[in-house]
Amino acid sequence: MTLPQGARERRVRTGGIELCVAELGDPGRPTVVLVHGYPDSKEVWSEVATRLADRHGLHVVLYDVRGHGRSGAPKPLRGGFTLEKLTDDFLTVADAVSPDRPVHLVGHDWGSVQAWEFVTVRRTEGRIASFTSMSGPSLDHFGHWIDKRVKRPTPRRVGQLLGQGAKSWYVYLLHTPALPELAWRGPLGKRWPGILRRMEKVPTGAYPTPSLPSDAAHGAWLYRDNVRSRLRRPRSDAHAHAPVQLITPLEDRFLSERLYDELEEWVPNLTRRTIAAGHWIPRTRPDQVASWIDDFVTSVEQERAGEAAGQGREQGGGPVRTAAAGRYAERFGGRLVLVTGAGSGIGRATAFAFAEAGARVIAVDRDAEAAARTAELSRLIGAPGAWAETVDVSDEQAMEKLAAKVHTEHGVLDVLVNNAGIGLSGSFFDTTSDDWRKVLDVNLWGVIHGCRLFGRHMAERGQGGHIVNTASAAAYQPSKALPAYSTSKAAVLMLSECLRAELAGQGIGVSAICPGLVNTNITDTATFVGVDAEEERRRQKRSTRAYGLRNYPPEKVADAILRAVLLDEAVVPVTPEARVSYALSRFLPRALRALARVGPPL
Ligand SMILES: NC(=O)c1ccc[n+]([C@@H]2O[C@H](COP(=O)([O-])OP(=O)(O)OC[C@H]3O[C@@H](n4cnc5c(N)ncnc54)[C@H](O)[C@@H]3O)[C@@H](O)[C@H]2O)c1
Repeated sequence: MTLPQGARERRVRTGGIELCVAELGDPGRPTVVLVHGYPDSKEVWSEVATRLADRHGLHVVLYDVRGHGRSGAPKPLRGGFTLEKLTDDFLTVADAVSPDRPVHLVGHDWGSVQAWEFVTVRRTEGRIASFTSMSGPSLDHFGHWIDKRVKRPTPRRVGQLLGQGAKSWYVYLLHTPALPELAWRGPLGKRWPGILRRMEKVPTGAYPTPSLPSDAAHGAWLYRDNVRSRLRRPRSDAHAHAPVQLITPLEDRFLSERLYDELEEWVPNLTRRTIAAGHWIPRTRPDQVASWIDDFVTSVEQERAGEAAGQGREQGGGPVRTAAAGRYAERFGGRLVLVTGAGSGIGRATAFAFAEAGARVIAVDRDAEAAARTAELSRLIGAPGAWAETVDVSDEQAMEKLAAKVHTEHGVLDVLVNNAGIGLSGSFFDTTSDDWRKVLDVNLWGVIHGCRLFGRHMAERGQGGHIVNTASAAAYQPSKALPAYSTSKAAVLMLSECLRAELAGQGIGVSAICPGLVNTNITDTATFVGVDAEEERRRQKRSTRAYGLRNYPPEKVADAILRAVLLDEAVVPVTPEARVSYALSRFLPRALRALARVGPPL
């Protein structure tokens, strides 16, 4: 693994050793300092650094922590890695790369553990503009966390203590003399790339760094010099003096998310983000990590500019306005989401729900005005970015153009919602080939185009994602009144299941949403075949009335969609009647067959 192209390396002296520092981007822009963890070197940040410099236009600085990569190691090693010395190193680097302005600090793993020290000691005050922490707690906060659970145990607290204890097995090993050094220089060092690939799905070619065995052997002193002593006597004044963004990977095998439960006590200005990923997110989720760092840096810089102009909040006031207030803000803030059929009903409600959670939203509809309105309202609700695109999802070429445009202008989607659909009702023999084509083109081919074009980018990026396809209860509930519509939706359901199986290994979830009867415009625009225009209008009105009386709001379907993404649900029947018929389809299909002869409205 190498440094990004164009990185400028230099060396700075601190406490008798030289640190290797690399810089990218324009030094006139806000500076982000990236601190790596154990047993990594600064190259672990390569993908994130490139994105921050090239895509987000920031000045990016990364350095090898003492004893790692191409930085010198202290002599003797014992006592050479204390948090105090690591703080000296950070201040030396910050002064060298950004002498006049505070820097935005970012740490992963042990880089985050030491950065917590930097942001909570007084001598760095005024030198740190913000801190983004990933997978590395403050030893002081951790010490108090343990203390509370030992001194005031409740069953829940004891469970949390045991849970984290089991995840910390390697910390005990790293405290043993000589064993870690022997292991890293021997079999563990050789097998590490394979272990990381299997355990974390870190892409091939990422490791080993040539310095891995000695980095890992030196790094054992990070633990020995600090962990036991600080956990026994945690500082009681370890409050952060800069805004903090905490990114918690929910599948971190080394750290429990419960560790951060009471963090607000220590951080008055905290923004939380969560991500469904393992420990090494700088390698496995660089797009998301870079975009969250950029969002946070931008908002802190805006806040600082406001303060400088005398319009800002009072010192120590409210939180930085990065996190949206919505229920799902931690998970969807800053994500890129595209919704088709976003001009009305379920699609519009879904766009709004993602906007409220702080996602960037692309609203796609064949109705240009309706899509533009959804985008405009999404911005008002809180989306950091919202755009409208006018496309007919059944038009393959138009969809290809849309995918290329989205990719170039916004990047790879994190969530795709293939929702556009039309209703068509009438008996099989009254349904012409053209009617079939019309409904299959939109309801099925629209979904196929979306999955193929946007899903491919997601899969190639290798950083996970989620595809939601709006099917219907009609997908599993036969009806004599809806042969074409139900067939299109059954196909969407099966397509979703097949794709889910195919993409499971790539961290991409696929959900089929089966709403039931929802009060939207679909009944008003549905086609009723086999009748004249007047009768069609009468039936449209009648079913609109019936759906209005049922009055199930599209917002509840939107909520089910966000939950399906969070929980990676496969098939989601939404309304109570959709859930009952789903159960019947599995356990009492004969009852459903009998009902099919009556035929529901749509
Ligand atoms: N409303 C229900 O009861 C219900 C039940 C089950 C499933 N669904 C499904 O939910 C989805 C959304 O429907 P809704 O109820 O919100 O309907 P809606 O009519 O309120 O909204 C559908 C939107 O999709 C757009 N659209 C239609 N064809 C398009 C195309 N070819 N390209 C781009 N955009 C197109 C429309 O302009 C409209 O804005 C559909 O797939 C529908 O089949 C709805």
